[in-house]
Formats: sequence, C-alpha cells, structure tokens
Amino acid sequence: MGIRVWRRLGLILLLGAIALSGCEKKEEEKTSIKVGVSVYDSHDTFLAELMSDFNKLVTRKADESGVAISVEVKNAGWNQSTQNSNAEDMLNDGCDILCINLVDRTAPTAIIDLARQKNVPVIFFNREPVEGDLDRWEHLYYVGTDAGQAGCMQGEIAAEAFRQHPEYDRNADGEIEYVMIEGESGHQDAIVRTEVSVSMLVDSGFKVKKLKSAIGNWLRPQAFTKMEQIIAECGDEIELVLANNDDMALGAIDAYNSAKIPMEDRPVIIGIDGTDAGVVAVKNKEMYGTVLNDKEGQAEAMVNLVYAEAVLGDVSGIDFTEGRYIRVPHSKIVGE
Ligand code: GAL
Repeated sequence: MGIRVWRRLGLILLLGAIALSGCEKKEEEKTSIKVGVSVYDSHDTFLAELMSDFNKLVTRKADESGVAISVEVKNAGWNQSTQNSNAEDMLNDGCDILCINLVDRTAPTAIIDLARQKNVPVIFFNREPVEGDLDRWEHLYYVGTDAGQAGCMQGEIAAEAFRQHPEYDRNADGEIEYVMIEGESGHQDAIVRTEVSVSMLVDSGFKVKKLKSAIGNWLRPQAFTKMEQIIAECGDEIELVLANNDDMALGAIDAYNSAKIPMEDRPVIIGIDGTDAGVVAVKNKEMYGTVLNDKEGQAEAMVNLVYAEAVLGDVSGIDFTEGRYIRVPHSKIVGE
C-alpha cells in the first residue's frame, strides 16, 4: 500500500474516533442522579431555610428536565469527623455529587481526597474553605456570598438610621455606643461582617464606641443570654446592636422583651440573613433592618451546578464569579 492510502486510512480512523467521542459525550448525560448533602447543623435557621429552597428547586429541575434527582441530606451536628463519615457513606451509597456545608472550613482535605478517589465532584457551600483548597482538584466548587458586602450593607443601614434620626444618639454625645453580637469564631462571615459593618459606619463619618461584644455562635438562645447580661451592665447606654445574623438579633430582641423595656427605649437592632422570622421582626419594627443573605439564589446556584456537573458533565454554561466560586449578591431590607 502506498503512503497516500495509509494517510487516507489514518484520516478515516481519526474521523471515526471524533464521531465516537461525540457519541460518548451524549452517553455521559445521565437520566438519574443522586445528590449527597451534609450540613454542619440542620437546626441552623438560615441553613434549614436554604435546604428547604434547595429541595423545592431540585424537584422543579427534575420536573423540567425529566432527569430523576434524588437527594440524601445528613446532619454533621457540629462535628467534622461525623461529616467525613457522612461523606464516605454517601459516596459508598453511589452519590454522583456531594454538597458539603463544612463544619470546620479549614478541614476539607479528607472529603476532597475521598471524593476525588471516586471521581465525584464536590460543591462546598455557605462555609467557605480557606484559599487554595479549591485549587486542589478541578471538580471542587464554592457557592456562597461576599461576606464583606453583607457587613458593608449592615453598616449602611445603621448609618442611614442615625442620619435620618439624630435622636437615636440618646445621650447626644455625637458618638454611637454599640454592642456587637458575633457568630462563630473563625467563620468567614463572622470575622468579615464584624469588621466591615463598623468600618462602614466610621467611613460614613460617625464616631463609634464599642460597649461590649459577645459571641452568640449564630444561635438565638445564646444571644439572648449574652444580651441579658449586657443590658444589665450597660442599660440605656446602648444605642445600636449589630448582630452577625438575624437569629442573634432576635435573641437580643428576646432579651429586651424579657427585661420589659418598651420599644421607644430600645436601641437600633440590625441583623443579617432575612430569614422568615427576621423579616417579620423588621415588619413589626422590632428589628430596624436586615441584609438579605439570598438563600433562594444560593440554592438555585447549587441546583444549576449540580445539574451541569452531574447530569451534563459540562459546566461551561455556569456563570462563575471568580474561578470556581459563585457569590450571590445581598440586598438591604429596611422597615421604612
Ligand atoms: C451565615 C448565616 C448564619 C449561619 C451561618 C452558618 O452565612 O448568616 O445565620 O447560618 O452562615 O454557617
């Protein structure tokens, strides 16, 4: 056989291979998938609402696409080794993709290694792994928000309140005396929201004085107990309460209710999240305002990513904010 015949044969084989790989791509599209989710604490109000949106949107996606999507949700109960076992069990159960709300955001290695061995992609959400961990494999993603933006908006709400109502500076000393109720120490949202909300107030031209700060671990009862003590110590000196989330702002409101302090004698109280109860408190004017941590937007981003990765095997249609990160924007909710 001459060289030209060999060349032609080579070309035919090449075209055949390309055609086959095209067919293979189609075959990769699945008609049913299993999603494994592990949350750090299933009793966390914001996460419970986010998961409820996630389940609704999964059902909608399954109906629209005709792909059967089943979801298995496990509670890690604030324990990283429980979460590692959750992940292992879900991988052994044949999950096609994992959604992990890390207990300890500095400890994703065990889960990444297990998932990678089985070639199962992982979407981390809400609790952001530290920089660099997402670079360890190309099928790792993060869905969350920009913590600085939430702090910035909370500071803007406070600045606007004191600008519109100079009388909120109760002792008229030209300084805002405030209390900060922080979420869990080490959590990206607690660290950044705390820092940025106050610097936003200062950048807006206000003088501020921190009376007290307390850690409430995102929890309403913990914030209630801490705030009871703070009210006992600082009383009507407090002009502003900034809470890293709505549940803790509600805990502060509970403390004012339990101390039977009338509405007109209370400080400005501002939360973050826009949970169902938080929004009701803003409507009732018990909470001055809050920042919407768009749970539905985050759930929708997760569902779209699950579908793109686990069903289509192609994430080119996903709009990443940076690298493999999706950050859903916040917005302000103010009663007035
Ligand atoms: C934050 C949210 C908190 C809590 C926390 C858990 O984004 O504002 O309410 O849910 O995540 O990681």
